[in-house]
Amino acid sequence: MHNDIARVLIETSDIQKRVAELGAQITGDYRGRDVVAVGILKGSIIFYADLTRHIDLPLTMDFMSISSYGNSRKSSGVVQIRKDLDHNIMGKHVLLIEDILDSGQTLSFLSEVLATREPASIRICTLLDKPVQRVADIQPDYRGFIIPDEFVVGYGLDHAERYRNLSYIGVLKPKVYEQAN
Ligand code: IMP
Ligand code: MG
Repeated sequence: MHNDIARVLIETSDIQKRVAELGAQITGDYRGRDVVAVGILKGSIIFYADLTRHIDLPLTMDFMSISSYGNSRKSSGVVQIRKDLDHNIMGKHVLLIEDILDSGQTLSFLSEVLATREPASIRICTLLDKPVQRVADIQPDYRGFIIPDEFVVGYGLDHAERYRNLSYIGVLKPKVYEQAN
């Protein structure tokens, strides 16, 4: 285990098992339809890469990047598009793939923006859900795990851009972010 991690919250093998289940569920729900998998950079990339390989449907990939936490752990509530989609989603079935639903402000803003482009549907798939922190009125359509109100890293999730490459989800030692702030 990495020295900055207080404890492992979700083991690698449990993540892999759950991601395969989500992929199978999505495959069943969207049968007969094409999917545009929209990854929210950068936190979703590991989840995105694993999940899409468990989705057995005609699928295209696109990405968006929005301003988020920076190095701090609290959502600013101010969300801005840094990189927009490359393709038009009008009439398409959009599956938004995110690492974690926390306050919900990011995905709530994003779904509203994308809805104005008249897709056939928009659904949200998040690996982690931290419902305790929710301020926006938003729920995921697909969710890997509900987690407690702790700051986690790994499997794509970062603190100050680090730890994304851990294969498990771990709780960061508070001294790490206390030093950084
Ligand atoms: P929201 O707008 O508050 O839902 O923020 C979602 C974003 O906040 C995620 O995409 C993450 O980048 C970040 N975030 C929220 N909680 C955590 C955490 O525990 N660890 C790492 N990033 C987090
Ligand atoms: Mg993020």
